[in-house]
Amino acid sequence: MLKKEQNDLLTQTGPGTPMGRMFRCYWIPALLTSELPENDCPPVRVKLLSERLIAFRDTDGRYGLMDEFCAHRGVSLWFGRNEQCGLRCPYHGWKYDVTGQCVEVPSEPEASGYAKKVKLKSYPLVERGGILWTYMGPPEAPPPLPEWEFITVPPPQTFTTKRIQESNWLQAMEGGIDSSHVSFLHRGDLNSDPLFKGAKGNQYNLTDQRPVFEVVESNGGLYIGARRNAEGGQYYWRITQWVMPTFTMIPPRGNHAVHGHFWIPIDDENCWTWSFDYHPIRQLTEAELAAMRDGKGIHVRYVPGTFRPLANKDNDYLIDRAAQKAGRTFSGVEGIAMQDASLQESMGPIVDRTKENLVSTDNGIIMARHRLLRSVKAFVEKGTVPPGVDTAHQKVRSAAMVLPPDVPFTEGARDALIAQPAVAPASV
Ligand code: FES
Ligand SMILES: [Fe+2]
Repeated sequence: MLKKEQNDLLTQTGPGTPMGRMFRCYWIPALLTSELPENDCPPVRVKLLSERLIAFRDTDGRYGLMDEFCAHRGVSLWFGRNEQCGLRCPYHGWKYDVTGQCVEVPSEPEASGYAKKVKLKSYPLVERGGILWTYMGPPEAPPPLPEWEFITVPPPQTFTTKRIQESNWLQAMEGGIDSSHVSFLHRGDLNSDPLFKGAKGNQYNLTDQRPVFEVVESNGGLYIGARRNAEGGQYYWRITQWVMPTFTMIPPRGNHAVHGHFWIPIDDENCWTWSFDYHPIRQLTEAELAAMRDGKGIHVRYVPGTFRPLANKDNDYLIDRAAQKAGRTFSGVEGIAMQDASLQESMGPIVDRTKENLVSTDNGIIMARHRLLRSVKAFVEKGTVPPGVDTAHQKVRSAAMVLPPDVPFTEGARDALIAQPAVAPASV
């Protein structure tokens, strides 16, 4: 449970808010590289942290992310002409380069130098691992570029999608670190989804529905250990990584790809759910890629031409009551991603955390909120750089392991929780 002021603090990320300022300390995913597929292609509207922006790729292949609206009289530059190293407003022809600098005001004599005095707010946009990342904080202090393992492995080993989620980022992120719901909500999919089925660990999930949580602080966030009974008195551990403020990595299953998410605020009532799948030591197979493109695993099918899921709140997520009754799916909604999103959106755009009744399996969520609150306080009051900015904090992996009962997971899984090139993930 949170006080209203705490809930407001954690869920509001617009310009000038404490959380908004902290979010602006990080490189965050802004677009898929495929959204700007070639030089001088159409610009793309991007809303992030409640700011309306426009992204474009110029004639020389440079990327830009800047204020969506023309400095002259506020036309959306989405209508702009992307030509000769700049985006030109179609109303009166003012033109901007990728840094937001106005380079031409055709109605003014060139000698007046008027254009030089006009600059739109802009942010860097950098390609890494098929994603265009941006940093929206003070320009004088950009952090080092992101080094998450899934963007540093060779391209055939990794696959990323994004979808719009109609809820605040925090309740979506809290679903990503809530390992206990898997035994319920996703139980129908563990043995049927092509990206999950066949792993031995699935049986432990299905037979022990009372996981014991042990949550331990890591340098960048938390290790969220969920312990279930295995044979011979041993324990099956699933260790989720959470790295501040919004990266999560779900423990692997068998030799399947490993996956995780970022939840990036669009505004306070919507977020981008970024979903990645990668394997640290092998290429993804054609069958795996086909399943991911078809919306299996943590991915979704879309309303054509959009990033909105095909199953969405306007069609009640295509709920199938017969499948629910028969137990083919636990909630009646198909697909792991939409099972999560449907329930998280059903809480309302910003869930009222003053009314919760938390139990021991919510320990990961409780500690994540606490760490966020502490970090935002230290950042606002003392300027302390928050956890997760340091790229060393990003070189992490989730793990699934069977360990003897007297071995703490922090010991038994110590090496497995670090991303090491050419080392296989720890998985059951
Ligand atoms: S509004 Fe853009 S040039 Fe006039
Ligand atoms: Fe889930």
